[in-house]
Amino acid sequence: MPSDTEPPEDRAAIEALFDEVRTIPPSDEFKKRALITDTSLYDEANQDWQGFWARQALALDWYDEWDTILEWKLPFAQWFVGGTLNVSHNCLDRHVANGLADRVAYHWEGEPGDTRTITYGELLNEVQKFANVLKGLGVERGDRVNIYLPMIPELPVAMLACARIGAPHSVVFGGFSAEALRDRILDAQAKVLITADGGWRRGSAVPLKVNADNAVAEAPTIEHVVVVRRTEADVPMQDGRDQWWHDLMADAFPRCEPERMDAEDLLYLLYTSGTTAKPKGIMHTTGGYLTQVAFTHKYVFDLHADTDVYWCAADIGWVTGHSYIVYGPLANGATSVMYEGTPDFPDKDRWWSIIERYGVTILYCAPTGIRTFMKWGTQYPEAHDMSSLRVLGSVGEPINPEAWMWYWEHIGGGRCPVVDTWWQTETGAIMISPLPGATTLKPGSATFPLPGIAAEVVDEKGNKVELGGGYLTLTRPWPSMLRGIYGDPERYRETYWSRFEDRYFAGDGAKLDDGGYFWLLGRVDDVMNISGHRVSTTEVESALVDHPSVAEAAVVGTKDETTGQAIIAFVTLKGGQEPSDERGEELRKHVTAKIGAIARPKTVIFTDDLPKTRSGKIMRRLLRDVADGRDLGDTTTLADPAVVEEIKRRATVSPTEE
Ligand code: WTA
Repeated sequence: MPSDTEPPEDRAAIEALFDEVRTIPPSDEFKKRALITDTSLYDEANQDWQGFWARQALALDWYDEWDTILEWKLPFAQWFVGGTLNVSHNCLDRHVANGLADRVAYHWEGEPGDTRTITYGELLNEVQKFANVLKGLGVERGDRVNIYLPMIPELPVAMLACARIGAPHSVVFGGFSAEALRDRILDAQAKVLITADGGWRRGSAVPLKVNADNAVAEAPTIEHVVVVRRTEADVPMQDGRDQWWHDLMADAFPRCEPERMDAEDLLYLLYTSGTTAKPKGIMHTTGGYLTQVAFTHKYVFDLHADTDVYWCAADIGWVTGHSYIVYGPLANGATSVMYEGTPDFPDKDRWWSIIERYGVTILYCAPTGIRTFMKWGTQYPEAHDMSSLRVLGSVGEPINPEAWMWYWEHIGGGRCPVVDTWWQTETGAIMISPLPGATTLKPGSATFPLPGIAAEVVDEKGNKVELGGGYLTLTRPWPSMLRGIYGDPERYRETYWSRFEDRYFAGDGAKLDDGGYFWLLGRVDDVMNISGHRVSTTEVESALVDHPSVAEAAVVGTKDETTGQAIIAFVTLKGGQEPSDERGEELRKHVTAKIGAIARPKTVIFTDDLPKTRSGKIMRRLLRDVADGRDLGDTTTLADPAVVEEIKRRATVSPTEE
C-alpha cells in the first residue's frame, strides 16, 4: 500500500514508471515441472525463519548435527553451531556414493576449442590426489592457499582440494595484475600459490606465470608455486620453489580422507573492492555458506539435477563463480558447462554455439554481456538452435528493462523466465530474486527477497520506506553472510553495520513499487560497477597518484550503454608536466599495471584543479555530472579546456556539496 510519508514527487515518478511496466506470470507449461509454484516456501520461512534454514541445512551431509541454529551478536553471526561437515565430501563423495560417479560434473571447453568431460567420479579422484599434493607441500588445516588460474578444470579441483583438507583458499581473478596479486597474498599470508603458464583469452595467451613470479618476488610467505601447463608458453621455473602440477599429480596418492570441519571454519577468502584503497578479504565459512548456495542454486534456477545442463558464464575469480560454478552446482549434483574464453572468439556466436552443442537448459550471466549481444545483433543467436533453454539468470549489476526484454525474447524465445538475482560478495549467495515457477516477473526488477531473507529499503534516517526509493538494507542475519573482513573486525562493523542501526547496509540504492517489488538502482557509495565488476574509485585514484607525474586524481563512474558504468579519471599533473594524449595513455597503462585491465580508465581528463568542498573533499558528484553530460570518446584522452571551464563554473555555482 502507498504510504503517506513519501515525498509526492517520488511517488508520482514511480507510478508513472510502473504504469508502463508489463508483468509476466509463470507459464502453465513451465509450472508443470517447476519445483515451486506457490508461496509455500515463503509461508514456511515467515513462520520460523531459523527453522526454515535448519531444514535447508539438512539437505547436506553432516558428521555431527548442530546444537544451535544461530548465535547472533550483532554484527557477528554463527550458524549451525557445533555442526561438523566437509564441503568437498558434500560436493563429490556423497554423489559418488549415491551411484552418480558417471554423471558429468563439467563439460569443459577451452577457448581454442579443446574439450574435457569430467564426471563426478573423476573429479573426486583428481581432488583427492591434489589434496595430497598440497599436504606434501606442507599445507596444513587452517593454512591459506592462493590460486591464480584461468578458467580450466584445475581451478575447481584446487579449490575443492583446499576445502577437503581445511585450508582456506583465496582465488585471485586472472585479470588482476602482479601487484594486486601480491597484495592479496600478503594480506592472506598464503603459503602456496597455484598458477598456470598462461590462459587463453581472445586468441592470445595471458602471461599468468610472469605476473605470479613478479608477485611472489615480493611475497615471501609463499614457499611453493604449483604451475599448471595450459598454453605451453616457455616459463622459467625456479628451482626448489616451482613445480609442475602434472609432475606432482603423477606421484600423488589417490585417497585422502576429508577433514571434519566445524560449520564456522573458514572456507575461503575473496578480496573485493570497498570505499578505501585497500581491498577487503571477505570471509566465508563452511556450513551456512554451503546451505544457502545449495538452496538458492536449486530453487532460483528450478534445478532438475538429473536432466538440466547448467551454465554460469562468470569467471570463478569472482564470487558468482565460487558460489554458482563450483559450490552450489556441485553440492546439488548438477551438470555444468565451463568455458575458458571470451564470447567473440573465434566469432560472436560462441556462446550460442556452446548452448546448442551441449543442450544448455539454464544460462546465468551478466547484463553487460546481454547488452553487448544486443549491440552485435540477433543474427548470432538466430543462427543456433537454443530450444533447450528453459531458465535465464542475470547477475552483477542492474538490468535495464530493454536488456531484460531482449534476453527474454531473443535468447529465451519468449518461453524462459528471467531471474534477476541481486546479491554481493559479502552476502555469499543470492538474496533477492524471483522463484521462476512462482513469481510474476517485471522486467528490470529483482522482485522479492527469497524465503528466509529479510530486506528493507530505508530513508536517510533509517526509517523504513514502503513505497519509493532509498537505501537497501538487510534486517537479520542469513546463513551465507560474510563472517567478517580478514584481520579487521572493526572495519567489518564500520563498513556494513554502522550506517543504519541494527541493519546491514548493502551500499546499493533500491526502490519499492506498490506491489512490493524491489528495483535495484546501483551503488550509492564510492564503488563503481564496470561490466558487473566492482572497482573502487579510491583504489583507482591511488593507482593514478602513484604515477610520478600526477599531483591529484579524482575518479568517477559515468553511465555507459554497454558496461553499465565506465571509469573517468580527472587528473591534475605536477608542476612542469604537460597534459597530452600520450601522457593520458601512459596513465591508463599505469592503472592496468597496478590493478588490472578492469580498472583502466576509459578516459583521462586533465584539469588544473579539482573541485573540493571546504573540508577538502573532492566533489565527485559534480565531476560525475560533468562526465555524464558529455560525449566522452572511447579511449581518447582529453585535455579539453571546455571541460575544465565547466568544472570551474559549476564548482562555484554549487560549493556546498559535502
Ligand atoms: C551489484 C556480484 C542490481 C550491486 C554477485 C551489488 C546488482 C554489487 C545485482 C555486488 C542485480 C549485483 N541487480 N545490482 N541483480 N547483482 N549487483 O560483490 O551493486 O561483485 O552491491 O557480487 O553488484 O558485486 P559483487
